[in-house]
Amino acid sequence: MNPNKALWEKGDFTQIAATMRESGEELVGKLGITQGLRVLDLGCGDGTTAIPEARLGADVTGVDIAANLVEAGNARAKTEGLTKCKFYEGDATDLHELKDSSFDLVVSIFGAMFAPKPFDVAKEIVRVTRPGGKIIMGNWIPGDPTLVAQILKISSAYVPPPPEGFVSPMLWGIEENVAERFTATGVRKENISFARETFTFKAPYKPAEFVQVFKNYYGPTMNAFEAAEKNNKSQELQQELERLFKSQNTSDTDGATCIKATFLKVMVIK
Ligand SMILES: C[S@@+](CC[C@H](N)C(=O)[O-])C[C@H]1O[C@@H](n2cnc3c(N)ncnc32)[C@H](O)[C@@H]1O
Repeated sequence: MNPNKALWEKGDFTQIAATMRESGEELVGKLGITQGLRVLDLGCGDGTTAIPEARLGADVTGVDIAANLVEAGNARAKTEGLTKCKFYEGDATDLHELKDSSFDLVVSIFGAMFAPKPFDVAKEIVRVTRPGGKIIMGNWIPGDPTLVAQILKISSAYVPPPPEGFVSPMLWGIEENVAERFTATGVRKENISFARETFTFKAPYKPAEFVQVFKNYYGPTMNAFEAAEKNNKSQELQQELERLFKSQNTSDTDGATCIKATFLKVMVIK
């Protein structure tokens, strides 16, 4: 089994995605989506951004490596009666099912960054975008002090070192790496721009329960707990994550969590 696929099918990312809906919708609201715009949402999960894109009238193709998330996305689209929003299983490193230049906009929010072979990913994204079309990526930033970068940093300290040749997904959060990957496809450097934006996680339960949700449903955190368990360190990991979640929580409602996380927004014009 492809380890990248196994990682994301392992848990149930819909449980985390449920806390990301508001920011997903807000982000999509700023993309200038118009009726009939052909959008590819890559690493779409269960549609945090794909569903709002379709609500605005776009013709949306969601592609994700995890079969369970594709199924969940299609179920959400059906419930909302979004007939022009279809989710398919696929791999960002090889989108052979999709024709060249077939999308006006490609969106990948915390999605394609998790695929291996980043140069192949950039090549495929650019290939399926029409000339003059836009690409928008949202990528977590290495070393950033906010939530997700810190979860991934803490978790990585408990798992064995990655295999030789492994390229960290977090490099997608560094402007120079992103520019190198897109210019290698022929995109002009002046057509690539960056911004730092904020994504807010909102959950109707306490920060400690939010840690449990990550522990039970988020592949990378599940793996970290499994590895920590083997070394009798799961309690330590739990405490470290609880400290992080509590310190970042800005909700003034007891029994609710609101955590803001900074990400790198990448904008490319083909
Ligand atoms: C952090 S989740 C984000 C999901 C969604 N974009 C959202 O914001 O809710 C990362 C997603 O990327 C998907 N993914 C990871 N590697 C992939 C690959 N090689 N090709 C396509 N999707 C991939 C995962 O299955 C998962 O749904």
